[in-house]
Amino acid sequence: MAEIIELKNVYFSAQDRDVVQDISLEFEEGKITAIIGPSGSGKSTVLKISAGLLVPNDGEVFYRGRNIAHMSHSENLEFRRESAFVFQDSALWANQNLDQILELPLKIHYPQMTRSQRMKRIKEVTIEADYRKDLGIRPSRLSMGEQKLIAFARAMLCNPKLLFLDEWVESLDETSANKLIEVVKRKKKEGASVIFVCHDMRIIRDLADSVVVIVDGKEAFEGTKEDLLNSPELSNFLKMEIAV
Ligand SMILES: Nc1ncnc2c1ncn2[C@@H]1O[C@H](COP(=O)(O)OP(=O)(O)OP(=O)(O)O)[C@@H](O)[C@H]1O
Ligand SMILES: [Mg+2]
Repeated sequence: MAEIIELKNVYFSAQDRDVVQDISLEFEEGKITAIIGPSGSGKSTVLKISAGLLVPNDGEVFYRGRNIAHMSHSENLEFRRESAFVFQDSALWANQNLDQILELPLKIHYPQMTRSQRMKRIKEVTIEADYRKDLGIRPSRLSMGEQKLIAFARAMLCNPKLLFLDEWVESLDETSANKLIEVVKRKKKEGASVIFVCHDMRIIRDLADSVVVIVDGKEAFEGTKEDLLNSPELSNFLKMEIAV
């Protein structure tokens, strides 16, 4: 099967600190991959590098075989439209109302859409993400969990083929978390590829096809979920390191 994202010998350092060191990964098209590891091990950094949101100091990142550092403007726009990212801290614009935040990706990627078409799509994705409150308010009036629901809804707007989810259900109650998990399962059935960071082994068991373990900015394990679960050594390590 083809790789949708490939990292080749990627390094990232910031403020004289090596955050990611020599990581090479292949994410298969149509599969769900979980990235796990202790706090501060570099999971979010690897996810952002994979999505082209952070530029590595060394190494290469490929999207469908194309080096993302050498993409043309139109190729890059296509990559942006086909992929979506739910940030660990939700990253909603503080000075915009929720409906304005949700309109922006549609305005960029579907400039021909009318306002009423945009509003219809926004309604669909917010219902799907289980957010039912007012959209005419600023993110500061939402709980962390509600901000996550809006961040998830925003990620779904353009019907992505590739989803990056960073600790996307951690601050949610079980009902909302289960709804989002069902959406991700449906996306997989539709052929989407998903890469997610999560600390919850129950969700990893339920969703992931393969697992990557990152420790101290280095790849400690890459394999199928079954490989991980069948290795007592790794399971013990994970229990001790990240209390999964
Ligand atoms: N731009 C940066 N400048 C300085 N340090 C950074 C930067 N980005 C990441 N780091 C450091 O690199 C380490 C890894 O960060 P990262 O956010 O990728 O970890 P993580 O595995 O996602 O952690 P968590 O489980 O807490 O979300 C952290 O110690 C962080 O402080
Ligand atoms: Mg993180």
